[in-house]
Amino acid sequence: MRPNRSGIGASRNRAIAGLLACAAALVVPALLHADEAQPLRLCADPTNLPFSSDNPSQPGFYVEIGQALAQALGRPVAYDWYKSYFGKRTVRVTLLGKQCDAMIGLPRSEDFMGPAVIFSGTVAKEGYGLVAAKGQVLNSLDSLHGKRVAVQFASTPQNLLASRADIRMVTVLSPEEGMQALDQGKADVAFIWGPVAGWLNKTSYNDRYQIQLTEGEGLSWDAAIGFAKTSTELRDRVDAVLPQLQATIGALAVKYGLPTGQPARFGAAPAMPAGTTIGAGPGATQTASVVATETKGDAPGTEAVGSGKEIFNGTCAHCHGPDAIQSERKIDLRLLRHRYGDDMREKFWTTVHEGRPTKGMPAWKEVFTDDQFDHIFSFLLTVQSDSND
Ligand code: HEC
Repeated sequence: MRPNRSGIGASRNRAIAGLLACAAALVVPALLHADEAQPLRLCADPTNLPFSSDNPSQPGFYVEIGQALAQALGRPVAYDWYKSYFGKRTVRVTLLGKQCDAMIGLPRSEDFMGPAVIFSGTVAKEGYGLVAAKGQVLNSLDSLHGKRVAVQFASTPQNLLASRADIRMVTVLSPEEGMQALDQGKADVAFIWGPVAGWLNKTSYNDRYQIQLTEGEGLSWDAAIGFAKTSTELRDRVDAVLPQLQATIGALAVKYGLPTGQPARFGAAPAMPAGTTIGAGPGATQTASVVATETKGDAPGTEAVGSGKEIFNGTCAHCHGPDAIQSERKIDLRLLRHRYGDDMREKFWTTVHEGRPTKGMPAWKEVFTDDQFDHIFSFLLTVQSDSND
């Protein structure tokens, strides 16, 4: 289980305070629309621009949509700031843990935690984009012929281009790095997560680049507002006001540099090796599960170990050795239990999520889903050694 993060306790207290206030209000006989008077509680990440931020002068695309939405519903808005990537685990703790009523920007897909999570209509379309110097027509794989293309590690674009000998891939770990590769002349095109590319283009690159949105399997998602499955009434009310918010949402997309325009359709990629992220921003991301390797149910059986091993050997083995067999102690992951004992899982979790960038261990939270991390961990559990030498 994921450890509690600071803030959960505080917000529970806030929730209790809210309940007490509500109980007090019930004494007032004239209070007919108790629900209307209560704030619409939204969960959001405080450090995930262009999507959300707790800085009131630059709140972010989703936060401003939330404000417009609350206004349309005639309710004040309150935030539960949860500093984390938007993985399923976060949704479980915050939204399904009843710390908030809604979460803006979840991928509108049954695969994403359905039926526990239900969705509003589509709020925005988000996808990978082809970023390049202005004045080029880039709208198909063929139009990338002969070019050096920066792709995010284990992303759908990387997978799409893998079969093309005439396109040279430059692998990067984040949209930020993709933009840098472009800027430093190491790539001609960056095929990276569009919203973040647009935001960076606007804020760091003077709108120097054009961004062609793409769509297709694993390339684009409908972002929607997610609710716990018990909140059908609220969901229906949100759906009823969404149409009148379209113009506002469009203006906000422009404000935050999100790429607009007709997306170019790409064919389906071969089997995805890994999870793909939505809203992969600096420090935070929400993870959409588009993986075939996911196991059903909770039992971390041999299936989980097998899929974990596969991911490990495909991605981690370069540095940590095939099957985790590694003679250099410092990066020998068979020593995790020996090294950390009961804290082993916690250490694993923070290290794989955040990485240790200064020590050469990349952050993987934008690359894999929590379930995939669970699988890798299940595999590592099977290779722990007690060796003391
Ligand atoms: C580019 C090389 C590289 C890759 C690829 C890599 N790691 Fe690492 N990893 C490192 C280095 C170097 C360290 C040691 C950092 C330090 O000295 O603190 C490390 C440390 C770790 C640790 C902490 C070990 C400890 O004892 O504290 C874990 C857990 C870990 N890696 C898991 C993974 C997993 C899982 C993957 C694949 C998803 C992976 N790593 C991929 C280089 C890599």
